[in-house]
Amino acid sequence: MTAVQTPSTRHAPPAVSGPAGGMGPDAGPAAPATGGTALVAQGVSLGYQGRPVVEGLDLAVPRGQVTAVVGPNGCGKSTVLRGLARLLRPTAGQVLLDGRDLHRMPTRQVAREVGLLPQSPVVPDGITVAELVSRGRHPHRGLLRQWTRDDDRVVAEALAVTGTEDLAGREVDQLSGGQRQRVWIAMVLAQRTGLLLLDEPTSFLDIAHQVEVLDLVRDLSTQQGTTVVMVLHDLAMAARYADHLVAVREGRIAAQGAPRAVVTAETVEQVFGVRCRVRWEEPDGDLTVVPVGRHRSTSARPGAAARPGAAATATTAGGAS
Ligand SMILES: Nc1ncnc2c1ncn2[C@@H]1O[C@H](COP(=O)(O)OP(=O)(O)O)[C@@H](O)[C@H]1O
Ligand SMILES: [Mg+2]
Repeated sequence: MTAVQTPSTRHAPPAVSGPAGGMGPDAGPAAPATGGTALVAQGVSLGYQGRPVVEGLDLAVPRGQVTAVVGPNGCGKSTVLRGLARLLRPTAGQVLLDGRDLHRMPTRQVAREVGLLPQSPVVPDGITVAELVSRGRHPHRGLLRQWTRDDDRVVAEALAVTGTEDLAGREVDQLSGGQRQRVWIAMVLAQRTGLLLLDEPTSFLDIAHQVEVLDLVRDLSTQQGTTVVMVLHDLAMAARYADHLVAVREGRIAAQGAPRAVVTAETVEQVFGVRCRVRWEEPDGDLTVVPVGRHRSTSARPGAAARPGAAATATTAGGAS
């Protein structure tokens, strides 16, 4: 969590964003009906080697909306996402995808309906960007269903919309962290699922690319009815982009609801253990969260003489996740 003034973005676009003019609606799953819940966790407990991490999780993910999961390091955010993506089997409770028990669904069917961007995906040796993004199409193929021009088009659009076309021939493990992150996002987009689970999709990205990715996520939700659950570190970004905010603390949901209801000084202190000043800007409701630590720079104090060469404005930078 950083003292970030969320930058203004180019929101309210006329069509799905991206240089390719967007992700065509015909190659993906039919746009899901909006309203209701897409994914439900009922009393779900998750852990590793018998050690419980998440206990009694009750979560209803609104269909066609963006849900952001926030919370301190190690509180279980990634574990929750793994449970929702079926990478971890609950030790108690169940996860329902459109009313079906996720753990009873065929693997390929889950891959067609749920796209996951893990927090630290492993790059297969020597794979190029184009090859990796093409893997997003695998769940849609079968013994009798060969690669088609439609697959080519979907991959090209995923590359374009993430600004990774120029990297298509490069090996993924030779890219910078930010480039690699955008390539993984392209792969998940190529999967064309109605539900996206994104674990820190903005990590490694500079502020401009963070905004691009989050704008894209909103476009997918608004224009195609994609349901998104994403883990974000930056509270201001989470509040700006999410319809529904879930704050996790020590494996349990501490608060959830509309961002304005969730992000209060009290909740932030309870969840993150740090005192903050929380301010909602009018009229568009941007959020500023300024943690109150023990120190501040000498030049930021009222009446402090400006040091030669010191910046005249104290603009807060970027929200690293
Ligand atoms: N593969 C794993 N094996 C064992 N313990 C794990 C594993 N992944 C995460 N954990 C533990 O589970 C807890 C929650 O981790 P995680 O869900 O990754 O937190 P967050 O994403 O909120 O930072 C931590 O104590 C972490 O050490
Ligand atoms: Mg994590």
